[in-house]
Amino acid sequence: MDVGPLIAAGRECEILEAGPGRVVRRSRDGRDLEREAAAMRHARRHGFPAPEVFDADGPDILMERVDGPSLMEEMVRAPQEAHRRVRLLATLLRDLAGVRAPGWLQAAPGCPGNRLLHLDLHPANVILTADGPKVVDWANAARGAAGADVACTWLLLATTPAGRPLDERRTTWLAAFLEDAGAEAARPYLPAMADRRRADRNVTDEEKAGITAFLTENAQP
Ligand SMILES: Nc1ncnc2c1ncn2[C@@H]1O[C@H](COP(=O)(O)OP(=O)(O)O)[C@@H](O)[C@H]1O
Ligand SMILES: [Mg+2]
Repeated sequence: MDVGPLIAAGRECEILEAGPGRVVRRSRDGRDLEREAAAMRHARRHGFPAPEVFDADGPDILMERVDGPSLMEEMVRAPQEAHRRVRLLATLLRDLAGVRAPGWLQAAPGCPGNRLLHLDLHPANVILTADGPKVVDWANAARGAAGADVACTWLLLATTPAGRPLDERRTTWLAAFLEDAGAEAARPYLPAMADRRRADRNVTDEEKAGITAFLTENAQP
């Protein structure tokens, strides 16, 4: 696909300009993103706010450009408000739990169920646009139990460093998230989510140690 300048560079993908109001998400290693694009289309068709997909071709997805700060940027900008802002993640997870997964979507190991899961729904993947929040980065989309997606977000919020002002208030905003999202339905899936995360080559040894400690504290009620 014809693309313009780079907008954002991730570890697995880059986001490139592709004409007015459009971007291309391109996998760095040439990996086919057509299944990811189909998961986004499915989410959107069922009323969940994923960017609109215009085309998918091998390693490229041509999609709607979504403009605005991420939820993460907003939480960093105003840490004293983070406990209010983070509740949006719980709302998005609840809405997503209402969407049944397409039969062709890969099953999330250890989390049997028929819901559409994002499995990376953290504050940097939520863009706050004038038209409401939009959820990007569907690379991990899978089929499974809704509680697994809550467990995934819980684990990410609890174990990913967010910078000092936010880290200092983590207990408060994490509690607000769990109050809305529901810890008990998610708890059984924490071990499976921890395994996934520790197998990710982008996760540092320090984070892996943090995940293990988190699991010891939280996997049992
Ligand atoms: N459709 C889009 N429009 C505008 N910016 C986007 C879009 N999709 C992603 N981005 C930006 O690019 C960043 C990286 O994209 P993302 O899909 O999250 O990939 P990854 O986190 O795997 O690198 C996002 O955090 C966001 O800032
Ligand atoms: Mg991302």
